Amino acid sequence: MNNDTRTYIKDLSGKVGNEVTIKGWVDIRRDQGKLIFLDFRDMTGKVQGVILPNAKEAHEVGTQLRSEWVVEVKGKVNPRPEKNVQKDKLNGDIELEILSITILNQAETPGFDIGNDTRVVNEDTRLEQRYLDLRSERLQNNIRARHKAIKLVRDVLDTEGFIEIETPLLTKSTPEGARDFIVPSRLERGTFYALPQSPQQYKQLLMAAGMEKYFQIARCMRDEDTRGDRQPEFTQLDMEMSFVREDDIMALNEKLLIELVTKLYPHKKIQEIPFPRISYKDAMEKYGNDRPDIRTNKEDPNLLAFCWVVDFPMFEKNDQGGWTFTHNPFSATQKDHEEALMNAKADDANLTHIKAAQYDIVLNGYEIGGGSVRNHDPEKLLKVFEIMGYERSNVEQNFGHMLKAFRSGTPPHGGIAWGFDRLMMLLQNEPNIREVIAFPKTGEGRDPMMKSPDTVSEAQLRELGIDIKQK
Ligand code: AMO
Repeated sequence: MNNDTRTYIKDLSGKVGNEVTIKGWVDIRRDQGKLIFLDFRDMTGKVQGVILPNAKEAHEVGTQLRSEWVVEVKGKVNPRPEKNVQKDKLNGDIELEILSITILNQAETPGFDIGNDTRVVNEDTRLEQRYLDLRSERLQNNIRARHKAIKLVRDVLDTEGFIEIETPLLTKSTPEGARDFIVPSRLERGTFYALPQSPQQYKQLLMAAGMEKYFQIARCMRDEDTRGDRQPEFTQLDMEMSFVREDDIMALNEKLLIELVTKLYPHKKIQEIPFPRISYKDAMEKYGNDRPDIRTNKEDPNLLAFCWVVDFPMFEKNDQGGWTFTHNPFSATQKDHEEALMNAKADDANLTHIKAAQYDIVLNGYEIGGGSVRNHDPEKLLKVFEIMGYERSNVEQNFGHMLKAFRSGTPPHGGIAWGFDRLMMLLQNEPNIREVIAFPKTGEGRDPMMKSPDTVSEAQLRELGIDIKQK
């Protein structure tokens, strides 16, 4: 074999007696004078190397090397003496006898120690040099685990007949309850796109378009206060299906979650299958919130207590004393509450008895997803808006495209979206979603590495016809 071919570090122990070339980072250097020990790291793992006194050139390079320098190393894979073998550790039974080293890139002294858990490091510092932070073992694992989970979801949904469809990022405001991020239009001065809070309307329009089974790993943007399980920009596994009721959607999602856990996290235990269903009322009465933590043992980091929360009221009182939607305005009522909806009026004192065809999926006290069967009947949708105090003309203006689609032959449909970051946070036993996102924002919504948000040039503002008012 050509010994210039790169060998990945994970494959070294199968190459005892061979000369190999590895490429990667200097993890740790221990200079003992005559002997220099170097641990190397690539995306597949770590290995210990040693420069013996007779390897003169390598020795010279070895004295200059520092942590995080990028190198190409030629060496011989030797078995370790029995007494030095570290069982159960990758390459614990071998050592690389270093013959030559080529420096591919030098590194300034890292701003923080990536050899240990970087959660102890100031977070702004971590985010400012996120590429360094991401080299740490824990974050490498998190990001790779995230990829595996997304891949599994894609494969399972593909087998189930779903197709992945991208929907626009430059769109129009959707009433999902949060504030929109808006983008000024240059061509039509004074008008704005909104970044999607979710692909809600597009996925319903895809059902009108006869796609029947849609999904998307979708980026969503919401201008709301950031906290541990909330980012201004986050990822949903978003899906929608035609000709289904609540149970079909819940069954498919339950199957998908179980498969994800059993295939990728076999050491974790799902507390109860099928996932228990708890009514919104019972959850509020018994747990004081609508995302109950039903774990029987909260000390066990590998216990996953999924449950569904169902029977949400369709409407709740808003701050002005009127009625608003509890989830999103497109949800249908449960089948046997349709009549109650059509008979309801905006000034009814109580409408909380009307139940929505809506469900949330909760894991260990976190809402990791939610969805509903939708109103595909334009009259029912108009009724919902009427109860919320909208004029018919106003609804036609804002949601005319939805009503028109529903008048064009749209099948009954429903769906759900998972908060993918939250799910990964829980599966990876992390305390917040920033640990499972490659490039998250700080609590103040800033990216200290790119230094965004930032000002733009006068010329850009002029082109957009925007004047900034100084505070
Ligand atoms: P919803 O608004 O409930 O539903 O969002 C779905 C899931 O997304 C996660 N989530 C978030 N995760 C991180 N940061 C945020 N700021 C954030 N906001 C929400 C939560 C939540 O359960 N279109 C509907 C879905 C549907 O009806 O099909 C929707 O977006 O885990």
